[in-house]
Amino acid sequence: MSHGFRSLDEASVAGRRVLVRADLNVPLREGRVADATRLARLAPTLRELADKGARVIVCSHFDRPKGRRRPEMSLAPLAPALAAVLGRPVRFAEDCIGEPATRAVTLLANGEVLLLENTRFYPGEEANDPAFAAALAGLADLFVNDAFSAAHRAHASTVGVAHLLPSYAGRLMEAELAALDAALGHPAHPLGAIVGGAKVSTKLDLLGYLSVKADVLLIGGAMANTFLAAQGIAVGRSLEESDRHAEAMAILEAAKTRGCEVLLPIDAVVAKTLAPNVETAVVPVTAVSPEFMILDVGPETIARFEERLPALRTLVWNGPVGSFENPLFSTGTLALASAIAAATESGRLCSVAGGGDTVAALNLAGVAEKLTYVSNAGGAFLKWLEGKALPAVAALAA
Ligand code: 3PG
Repeated sequence: MSHGFRSLDEASVAGRRVLVRADLNVPLREGRVADATRLARLAPTLRELADKGARVIVCSHFDRPKGRRRPEMSLAPLAPALAAVLGRPVRFAEDCIGEPATRAVTLLANGEVLLLENTRFYPGEEANDPAFAAALAGLADLFVNDAFSAAHRAHASTVGVAHLLPSYAGRLMEAELAALDAALGHPAHPLGAIVGGAKVSTKLDLLGYLSVKADVLLIGGAMANTFLAAQGIAVGRSLEESDRHAEAMAILEAAKTRGCEVLLPIDAVVAKTLAPNVETAVVPVTAVSPEFMILDVGPETIARFEERLPALRTLVWNGPVGSFENPLFSTGTLALASAIAAATESGRLCSVAGGGDTVAALNLAGVAEKLTYVSNAGGAFLKWLEGKALPAVAALAA
């Protein structure tokens, strides 16, 4: 493989104990899985291993219990949810190491699946403590990491065990890496990028990296206000980070030097407050009254980006361009989603999107299936887009 690690094609798993690092950090409401996307995406790896006669031991973190056993953060409700998705039973061990885990593994027959309790109940997980990693690794003969969305964490179950057992990438990990590599590792140019969201400060590295890599960069969402304000444009009561103007200007300068065209909003949907049923108006960004705030990109901004789309060969997208949770301010984000989906469907464009809000917006637009790839990772997707190595991926290649 291009990343230098082994895939399941190379693993001989029949009759062997295989520890699978999954990401079961899914939204739970009243003890029920509210969105099973991560489970559905994990299923092919677990099915394949079980069908090949492995004794499948699944481990994962859930939420942030900070090294303590917190019953409300137990993975127990995930066993039936996983069983439903897999269409086969999933046993549960009330601990991820020690006697309960060892006993449950001993009872596991070939082709059966066991889920271990939350690895973050132990402080050794996040500390990547060698003793904790050894205890986990001791349960198995092989390690399969299928948790791309946790690959930016250098923890015992993502990095530690990979150094202790023969290690392989699961099918989901493989798919994420292949798609992201196609989008940014060796992208077909022209490469476009859309970056939105609230704060420049959380995406400085990303914007810096993309301003060098991309040919066209559209900046939307509240973070665009910081770029506008940095250039002396009055943005009224809009959310903006006045302490980030210098960094915003440096990004624009870097883009200019490299020949990356930066598209900032030229018009906007504004309102006096972000509330349901509020009165809205479309104005040029240079005409935002002091009592108004920018809450979405306007039609001319969308049209300007849509004009660029036919020429693009690759597009990466992270972050909505407006407060899309409110239908009054979702037009820009939904229009972009549909335009990207249409360009992708015509076969010209490789489109890759990721991040929780972006995936939610794509689902709202009903086009998530139409992009080339939608990553279910949040933090790991951002790190990858920033061009940074992911520790758990590096550990698989070691
Ligand atoms: C995620 O949901 O993005 C991953 O599971 C990582 O979770 P974390 O931010 O708590 O490490």
